[in-house]
Amino acid sequence: MEETQEPKKRFFTRRKFIFTSVAAALTDAFLIEPNLSSVTYRNLRVPYLPPSLNGLKVIHLTDFHYKPDKDESLMSGIIEKVNALNPDLILLTGDYIDGDNPEVDPLIDQLKGLKAKHGIYASMGNHDGWHNSAEHYRKRFEAIDTGFLINQNTKLDIKGESLHIAGTDFIWKGNPDPLATLKGIHPLSALITLVHEPDYFETMIKYRDHHLQLSGHTHGGQCRVPLINYAPKKVKYGEKYIYDAYQQKDSSIWVGKGIGTTGIRVRFSCLPEIAVLTLTG
Ligand SMILES: [Fe+2]
Repeated sequence: MEETQEPKKRFFTRRKFIFTSVAAALTDAFLIEPNLSSVTYRNLRVPYLPPSLNGLKVIHLTDFHYKPDKDESLMSGIIEKVNALNPDLILLTGDYIDGDNPEVDPLIDQLKGLKAKHGIYASMGNHDGWHNSAEHYRKRFEAIDTGFLINQNTKLDIKGESLHIAGTDFIWKGNPDPLATLKGIHPLSALITLVHEPDYFETMIKYRDHHLQLSGHTHGGQCRVPLINYAPKKVKYGEKYIYDAYQQKDSSIWVGKGIGTTGIRVRFSCLPEIAVLTLTG
């Protein structure tokens, strides 16, 4: 009798295990992960960084896709964490809005709480550009003392040394202009570029083969396969550089996981991220 019941029992146990695992993964992906945040630390090289700027702490935030009704406490928690990390610079690489929430003012109200010793600078993402003009965002960011860089650059003076920050327009149906973005920057000076879509790195290094690019756009895949850490979902202009740091020629790129979500509000094995990037020469 026992011999015939055993396989049946095992079948139910296995089915129960699969059901419980799927239910746990769905709960995590839909209800837990999109509301949490993580802090990632990386050391990244910036060619020609003056020795006195070695160790400069840059916080990179990207892809907010801010939904005021769902993300308010996530965002205020992130602002609090960022300020507690005491950054030298905060750099933002776009996608501030969400298709269903195209108004940027609620996020601006949150971002005005950010503090950094040497300033906050921002560029624009494709979702931003699909809904409003660069001038629309510039007005709002400049009102909260955040430099807004679209096909332009600025020179920071930190401890008597120079560090350039440059930002392009968004790439996907935007008007990026690398020559205008890099205009006036000495070839042997330290440079960080803000480019929303990471795969444009391949173009940027043709114009400038030594710099650090910060990007977002991919959301790190938004849902990753645990253990093998693979992101199955690809997005246009974010197919080659999906998450983490990469090196090409004498340049590096950092691609962050971002904070928000597009489409369904889901994240799995890919928490919203505050990236703490320590610069080395
Ligand atoms: Fe995005």
